[in-house]
Amino acid sequence: MQGGKLNKHEQISHLFYKANKDPCKIWPRYRNNADADWITTESGIPWLKLHKEIPTHQILAEIKQAEHLLINHRDEYNEHRGWRSFCLHGKSLKQTQHCEDSRPFQWVPEIQNLMPKTVEFFRSWAIGNYERIRVMALQPKGYIALHRDLVREQESNFLTAINIAITQPDDCHFIIKDWGQIPFSPGDAYMPDINNWHAVFNHSEQTRYHIIVHSNNWTDSFKETIRRSYDLMHGMKSHG
Ligand SMILES: [Fe+2]
Repeated sequence: MQGGKLNKHEQISHLFYKANKDPCKIWPRYRNNADADWITTESGIPWLKLHKEIPTHQILAEIKQAEHLLINHRDEYNEHRGWRSFCLHGKSLKQTQHCEDSRPFQWVPEIQNLMPKTVEFFRSWAIGNYERIRVMALQPKGYIALHRDLVREQESNFLTAINIAITQPDDCHFIIKDWGQIPFSPGDAYMPDINNWHAVFNHSEQTRYHIIVHSNNWTDSFKETIRRSYDLMHGMKSHG
């Protein structure tokens, strides 16, 4: 905070942080035999921790090699601070925002030589048809102002993007309205409900690096990962 000189986006985001950093809702009841579709659209859970190992050290080393490619993300209204990004996979290196045009999603040529192991990791994970895979950096004392990404009006959850903590400095907080903060540790992959209001704060002195993955046509194997992750997150032994 810069005493007394907060712009309105920062003021609102700070009020949101104070009001929502502790959860006020009770986690929805676990359902036995839930499938991926129900878990991601009807379960009401605010996030799902994916049961997946991520090679964060390798990925971080490659991000450092490509750091010069980061550009300001969504800064047209000056509402965020220190949020930077580039695409590993997408319509182009710098097309970090959602965009509906005829360009295909593909591995971005500029990063091929800089991040080969990261590309290999996502290729082998093969969760479906990748759309954007983006490196997202949030600089020290940066924040992502309060917003929601997909607006689906009904009161339900909508887990679609995967958010992977490549680093997670202490004192970084991803807050979701009514649910408190996602308990990220480095290497964790979560599917947060970005249909709900959220904001992110980096109160630390280090840059926070995450990767966000969007894909469609999930494979059966990824749907099974979702189902097992749901069971494990609820302390249930996954069957099947
Ligand atoms: Fe968001």
